[in-house]
Amino acid sequence: MLGSVIAAFSGISFLVLARVSTMPLPEIVPHQDVMREIFERDRAFVDDQNLFLEPRDAESDSRCRDLTLAEAKTMPNWEEILAYADKRYGKGSRNILMYDKHYPDVHPVKVCVPSQVVPIKLTGPPSCETTNATDGGNISGTHGIASIMIQQGLTLTSSFTVSNAASMGLTNAFRTKIKFPDIGTTRGGPTVFVTFTNTQAENFEIKFDDMVTTTFNMTVKEGQTCQAMETVRSCTLQGTAEVPFTATGIIWVQYDDRTYDHIEYNEKKKPHSKHYKFKLNMTEVLPEAAQRTVTATFKGSFLTTSHGQYEAVCTGGDES
Ligand SMILES: *[C@@H]1O[C@H](CO)[C@@H](O)[C@H](O)[C@H]1NC(C)=O
Ligand SMILES: *[C@@H]1O[C@H](CO)[C@@H](O)[C@H](O)[C@H]1NC(C)=O
Ligand SMILES: *[C@@H]1O[C@H](CO)[C@@H](O)[C@H](O)[C@H]1NC(C)=O
Ligand SMILES: *[C@@H]1O[C@H](CO)[C@@H](O)[C@H](O)[C@H]1NC(C)=O
Repeated sequence: MLGSVIAAFSGISFLVLARVSTMPLPEIVPHQDVMREIFERDRAFVDDQNLFLEPRDAESDSRCRDLTLAEAKTMPNWEEILAYADKRYGKGSRNILMYDKHYPDVHPVKVCVPSQVVPIKLTGPPSCETTNATDGGNISGTHGIASIMIQQGLTLTSSFTVSNAASMGLTNAFRTKIKFPDIGTTRGGPTVFVTFTNTQAENFEIKFDDMVTTTFNMTVKEGQTCQAMETVRSCTLQGTAEVPFTATGIIWVQYDDRTYDHIEYNEKKKPHSKHYKFKLNMTEVLPEAAQRTVTATFKGSFLTTSHGQYEAVCTGGDES
């Protein structure tokens, strides 16, 4: 029987379209369900360990960077911060500092990409092709039991360009999570970490391999030749993503001459002390993140290949 199964397999690689009977395998069903559960669990969220990222750069492993004053001025509502400083501490001659080395514990001004997932949106209909593949299935066995190995899962390769760099955090590397759209699978698109440089026309690639080899057993009847057949779906897509870059932290307003808190003085009529330097929390002046946010845009294309359902196809023998 072993001889006949192996010999049969080596000779049937391309026989599938001429199959006589298609037999869903009773033995496989529970095993397949278990595999599905494993897939669901693993795919709910894919973290670093499962990823093949290029490049993987420890130094650029960051969501936030120090923000310069010149770049802070590009945020949409920057002028409101200056107007607030005027109102509160006066219009005297002053400098704005993004940090103060004398107060290292005071949260310096940073620009950050989100900790939440950034979605990739499709910019056109996907171009997909589904084929029934047999080349993933290997068959071997004894005593009429054939053990078949197939590959299941998803691979993805993509190439993106920073088509519009964000005006804050320029030329710095950032790390964020992006989510690919769900293409031809019911599992939802993969979510991956990506490190990119916020520089106009910068290219980066994301590769993702979630292919798992599964083994199942089947009974081969006298005179039959069987093989595993699975659906392989390949799609080519175009997409875009907008990554928000948001500034947070404490600005120092440093006056040439001592001044005082006008708001506190006017409201509470408290005796005031005069200082050169005042802290200003940007989030208190501009509570909406959008007021402190600029965006970078990625554009790119990606190719996915997913191996889906499988079944055994047997030809010959007694088909009853
Ligand atoms: C693949 O196999 C399935 C099930 O046998 C069949 O319904 C489908 O038409 C096949 N598709 C192709 C592209 O051969
Ligand atoms: C089937 O066997 C071939 C040749 O030994 C090997 O290259 C291939 O990876 C095997 N496929 C699976 C799914 O194990
Ligand atoms: C398939 O059969 C082999 C040999 O009988 C056995 O060792 C193996 O555990 C079986 N695999 C599954 C998935 O049932
Ligand atoms: C700035 O103000 C916001 C909103 O009141 C607050 O949540 C945040 O903790 C403050 N940041 C610092 C560094 O004090």
